[in-house]
Amino acid sequence: MIKIKTDAELELIRVACKITGDTLKELEKHIKPGVSTKQLDKIAYDYIVSLGAKPSFKNYCGYPATICASINEEVVHGIPKKHRILMEGDIISIDVGACYKGYHGDAARTFPVGKIDAKRKKLIKVTEESFFEGIKNIKSGSYVGDIAHQVQTYVEKNGFSIVRELTGHGVGSELHEDPSIPNYGKMGSGAKLVKNMVIAVEPMVNMGERYVQFMPDGWTCIARDRLPAAHYENTILITDDGVEILTL
Ligand code: MF3
Ligand code: CO
Repeated sequence: MIKIKTDAELELIRVACKITGDTLKELEKHIKPGVSTKQLDKIAYDYIVSLGAKPSFKNYCGYPATICASINEEVVHGIPKKHRILMEGDIISIDVGACYKGYHGDAARTFPVGKIDAKRKKLIKVTEESFFEGIKNIKSGSYVGDIAHQVQTYVEKNGFSIVRELTGHGVGSELHEDPSIPNYGKMGSGAKLVKNMVIAVEPMVNMGERYVQFMPDGWTCIARDRLPAAHYENTILITDDGVEILTL
């Protein structure tokens, strides 16, 4: 069931999303060689709690941490660890959510660690741009498939591939609500988007083939060919004449 948000709900979602976006900006300052993903997780936890919110992911279906930290061939849902240390040349995708008075925000970025090679730079750039291509011309009356098609077309035109096993989703009093927002598909397909729907759009892009595997920890999703992957996500609000990005 798709839940259209009331103005009162949107006020809380806006706060949750602002905290989520600001947490990523805070984390970005700490991305450098030698830092562990566990340290980043603690920074995110302390920051979210200091603003009167709660980490959305902690205990979600048993997830044990505040952030997902996915390095290089890890696509999404990497679990932070004390002994997982960032190294020069890595790329790290960080996904985080904050819950404020019962409403969530959800966002992700992929960051370079020190100097990275040109191909990885392009992967990060194309992934981020594909989000903006995806939401281009989207407004009340558009379809989920319009976003999906625009993301897919842009990523594939640039020689990368779209992960299909995971999707974006509605966001509200639950972290994951209907509808699901795939990053591949046909224009005009799927659910209709209407004013005051809130959704997370989150392209997951592989440098190589699109196929993924899930690790025995039950969470970490990695590229089957072990080539790098990137993730970029924002929570957005559908309006009469466009969208508003709530987690930037
Ligand atoms: N942004 C992630 C997603 O939508 C949230 C993962 S929550 C977790 O897939 F708890 F499952 F990690
Ligand atoms: Co999400």
